[in-house]
Amino acid sequence: MSQDEVSETNTDSLITTDVQSESTDQTTETSKAETIVATENLDVYYDDDQAIDNVSMEIPTNNVTALIGPSGCGKSTFLRCLNRMNDLIDIARVDGVVTLDGTNIYNDDVDPIALRRKVGMVFQEPNPFPKSIYDNVGYGLKVQGKKVTDERIEEALRGAALWDEIHDRLDQSGLELSGGQQQRLCIARAIAPDPEILLMDEPTSALDPIAASKIENLIDELVEEYTVIIVTHNMQQAARISDKTAVFLTGGKLVEYDNTSKIFENPEHERVEDYITGKFG
Ligand SMILES: Nc1ncnc2c1ncn2[C@@H]1O[C@H](COP(=O)(O)OP(=O)(O)OP(=O)(O)O)[C@@H](O)[C@H]1O
Ligand SMILES: [Mg+2]
Repeated sequence: MSQDEVSETNTDSLITTDVQSESTDQTTETSKAETIVATENLDVYYDDDQAIDNVSMEIPTNNVTALIGPSGCGKSTFLRCLNRMNDLIDIARVDGVVTLDGTNIYNDDVDPIALRRKVGMVFQEPNPFPKSIYDNVGYGLKVQGKKVTDERIEEALRGAALWDEIHDRLDQSGLELSGGQQQRLCIARAIAPDPEILLMDEPTSALDPIAASKIENLIDELVEEYTVIIVTHNMQQAARISDKTAVFLTGGKLVEYDNTSKIFENPEHERVEDYITGKFG
């Protein structure tokens, strides 16, 4: 990329930076947190169709960052860039830089499996394997070449706030749990290898409000140890649980990214206000 292209395509990220500096009077701990993952001029294409358009974003460690925006704006695509899950889609092409702890995860010498140990993922539909609860959690360890011990299994299930409900039936199939329990089992599987980051793609959209609120409380606790990046269509949820919010709009553009309070109380862009107040999307 030439220098001109860089300066031209950087406009969105410059806007974001301006927004952040304007809001320094309400600086919180959030904005002081160190960056754990960052994208620079990230583009994603599926064949010739662009799904992410020049996104530059710095995500702080031990915070919850919410990604919001209308259907098809590229939230899942963006999330999958952060642990190279898009590598698994033949027609997907990723350009630009994604750093984790300062290292470009798209460098040739980065092993995607090792990367996914550091950057775990939980999906919209709970997807436990047709195995016992124990083996579901153990799988997360095994696939990463780690030893499966009772202690690690218990620790992960406690971490996912599921232990108390199921500790006396670890041999039962994961598929026999309720949807909310299955989702927490998937979270236990994701945190068992002790990742740095947990990516969550609409983790509560298939759950009833009580199960959803358990996951929300859990996220609150998880963020003490992990960095959580969550896609949600639920504005109240984003406002409740996240420290920072990124608003993507059609075409895979990051339109605004700031402290969650600022995005919901006083967004810079009219399109963002329209979206969060439900005028479109
Ligand atoms: N595997 C794929 N192959 C081809 N195109 C894809 C693929 N996955 C996503 N896309 C396209 O990329 C764009 C962004 O999709 P993505 O799933 O990232 O959106 P999203 O914001 O997560 O939407 P939703 O809120 O509905 O989950 C869409 O136009 C979609 O059709
Ligand atoms: Mg999606």
